[in-house]
Amino acid sequence: MADTSAKLLRGRLLSFSSAPKGPDDTDAYLYEEDGALLISDGKIVARGPYADIAAGTPGGTEEIDHRPHLLVPGFIDTHLHFPQVQVIASWADQLLDWLNDYTFPAEQKFADKAHGDRIAKGFYDTLLSNGTTTAVAYCSSHPNSVDAYFEEADRRGMLMLGGKTMMDRNAPEALCDTADSAYSDSKALLEKWHGARRAHYVITPRFAITSTPEQLEAAGALLKEYPDCHLQTHINENHNEIAFTKELFPDAADYLGVYEDFGLLGGKTLLGHCIHMNDRELGVMRETGSVAVFCPTSNLFLGSGLFDKKRTEGAGIKTAIATDIGGGTNYSMLRTLDEGYKVLQLQRQRLHPLETFYWTTLGNAEALSLSDRIGSLDPGTDADIVVLDAKATRPMALRMETAETLSEELFVLQTLGDDRSVVEAYVAGKASKPV
Ligand code: GUN
Ligand code: ZN
Repeated sequence: MADTSAKLLRGRLLSFSSAPKGPDDTDAYLYEEDGALLISDGKIVARGPYADIAAGTPGGTEEIDHRPHLLVPGFIDTHLHFPQVQVIASWADQLLDWLNDYTFPAEQKFADKAHGDRIAKGFYDTLLSNGTTTAVAYCSSHPNSVDAYFEEADRRGMLMLGGKTMMDRNAPEALCDTADSAYSDSKALLEKWHGARRAHYVITPRFAITSTPEQLEAAGALLKEYPDCHLQTHINENHNEIAFTKELFPDAADYLGVYEDFGLLGGKTLLGHCIHMNDRELGVMRETGSVAVFCPTSNLFLGSGLFDKKRTEGAGIKTAIATDIGGGTNYSMLRTLDEGYKVLQLQRQRLHPLETFYWTTLGNAEALSLSDRIGSLDPGTDADIVVLDAKATRPMALRMETAETLSEELFVLQTLGDDRSVVEAYVAGKASKPV
């Protein structure tokens, strides 16, 4: 539950107001060397220099001094799989074998609500240990798993997005729903959870291979009925996946054409991977406002390919970054930014650390159309905040001896940091990092 008591957090504040165009774009971010955030009722009430904010704060307000650490908006992970907590680090071949050999067997266990409840506790403890305060998850195909996922988020007061995976073919019987049951179960879950405190429901057809045309039509009908909901699926991750999709949907213009034909695209559609895109697909993504989600550790681990940020954004498409646990190999958004940086380095697209920290905070919030609530530290938004220590480990402390600028510090955090750099994670104003 949210912590309603007022608190004054003191530390070095960093947040973004837009995407930094480069290292010298000081208009894109706000940095306060001795700053403070006044938080109350789960919201940020005031932000600014400590002296100013403290002067306007009622006497007796609890004050927490995080100096010399950095306070940034809580990290946002825009794509991961809740039932893959025990799939991560499985020695598998590429995507389709990995799904069949490890992922589908593990997801079957979520038929048991008690299993989902137990995994949810570990899942949220891990997210918060890593400073991730909002995430967008695929649950399993069992409605139970969605309840387990949102119940535990609700207990912790977290803003989480997620939904029941819709899948009615090319998977084990025990995981398959039908077009009708996926529609009615998703609708019931959506009615139950969407807008319940901080929960957001996401309509979740897994990908073209595991849905019949009838099921994709049902997903499209749901999106039409509930345009306020997000929709998530996967696309153009792996060459064998693309070839199989072509066999299953021979009349579609291309892979994106399948989703386009069923009305699944729009400003709240999150498309995982988007690695092997043709120009038509990029054009349709731009026209529909659909979001491309980059999952670097997963793309490397499954040998899927290199996401081309420059080409995607150059085509006018909004991008987001994510872990994709359990194809992804680390829950930390710092580790994810580091691997993303390397994927882009291989393509001569070198990202500045201001851009990467923007990406995992305000950038991801904007991609989710949630920047009025999270991602910025702006007064009036939710008090989801992460406190970072750039000297958390010996190699970091040694490297920091020679760091002179904020950008250098951010790059040390990104390149060497992980959960050990996360000092605290505030969820709606409540200190929530598991001990
Ligand atoms: N495509 C369909 N399902 C999945 C999944 O669970 N993980 C990844 N990485 N790709 C997928
Ligand atoms: Zn995924």
